[in-house]
Amino acid sequence: PASDPGLVERARKAKEALGDKLFVLGHHYQRDEVIQFADVTGDSFKLAQQAAARPEAEYIVFCGVHFMAESADILTNDSQKVILPDMAAGCSMADMATFDQVEEAWELLEEAGIADITVPITYMNSSADIKAFCGRHGGAVCTSSNAKRALEWAFEQGQKVLFLPDQHLGRNTAVLEMGMSLEDCVVYNPHRPPSADELRRAKMILWKGHCSVHGRFTAESVDDVRTRIPGVNVLVHPECKHEVVLKADYVGSTEYIIKKLEAAPAGSQWAIGTELNLVKRLAQMFPDKGVSFLDKTVCYCSTMNRIDLPHLVWALESLALGEVVNQITVDADTTHWAKVALERMLALP
Ligand code: 13P
Ligand code: SF4
Repeated sequence: PASDPGLVERARKAKEALGDKLFVLGHHYQRDEVIQFADVTGDSFKLAQQAAARPEAEYIVFCGVHFMAESADILTNDSQKVILPDMAAGCSMADMATFDQVEEAWELLEEAGIADITVPITYMNSSADIKAFCGRHGGAVCTSSNAKRALEWAFEQGQKVLFLPDQHLGRNTAVLEMGMSLEDCVVYNPHRPPSADELRRAKMILWKGHCSVHGRFTAESVDDVRTRIPGVNVLVHPECKHEVVLKADYVGSTEYIIKKLEAAPAGSQWAIGTELNLVKRLAQMFPDKGVSFLDKTVCYCSTMNRIDLPHLVWALESLALGEVVNQITVDADTTHWAKVALERMLALP
């Protein structure tokens, strides 16, 4: 079992043997049994910054999902190797926009005569070739902690944005943070694209993608928790649906959620709408604050959970024996253009 003290000891020993050659990054949605071995924990933005911060580390073990490990490979130097302990740790949202579908969408924008005034922005939660597409077409990457600044930048470059692949982050940022209206947005369904007229009318063209975990919180879950816990503060991630974010008190990235709880007074009540590993950890970290899960019917992110202690032990022990397993590599051309898009994000003020 993952809680086996023998496995904990094996991970500790392998990590010690690798010393400074190894750098372990852990996303906030990772299991406790894994996060205890992370040298740095963070949201997607912080982890992208940190990936590039240790050029002397030969191995970067990324405890997170595939698109994060790809971004780390893009941002690190050629001699560094990025390892994802379980190759099946993908992201259903990232899979909702394929390169061919995005190329086809761009052709439709060209036919509608608006491609040259449209800036593609992709959420970090996308494959490396989608990031490269954005780099090639004058666009950038964003995360949940800088989506507003990325959109402001995009509207300085052009008049419209194609926002990939999370419609909710795109809509929530445009409408709640930048004063656009719902009518300024059109949803792009790759299986049934909007008409050329609809595309021409929209300021924000929102890809029809979503997070299968955050998409399960509902406006009713917010009403319900407010009835059950009077005075509760509702704090949600911007991947939640627009009607959920509208009803919440606070919205932000995983790092923002942690900081908000840190600053909260003892005795205050919080209902959190994000992944369950993080919510459970917050409840342990802040026993003097009431932390509850916004909707108990919502479950863990199954792909984040694929990285468990047995997989981590296997990856670390293999590395300690000089065998590189589960390396994530992005080809040179994709790396070049994806890096352009990532660096535009990292350069945002
Ligand atoms: P952040 O950590 O950037 O808030 O992202 C959340 C997420 O869904 C990662 O998959
Ligand atoms: Fe993807 Fe959602 Fe899981 Fe994040 S929480 S990795 S967006 S499925």
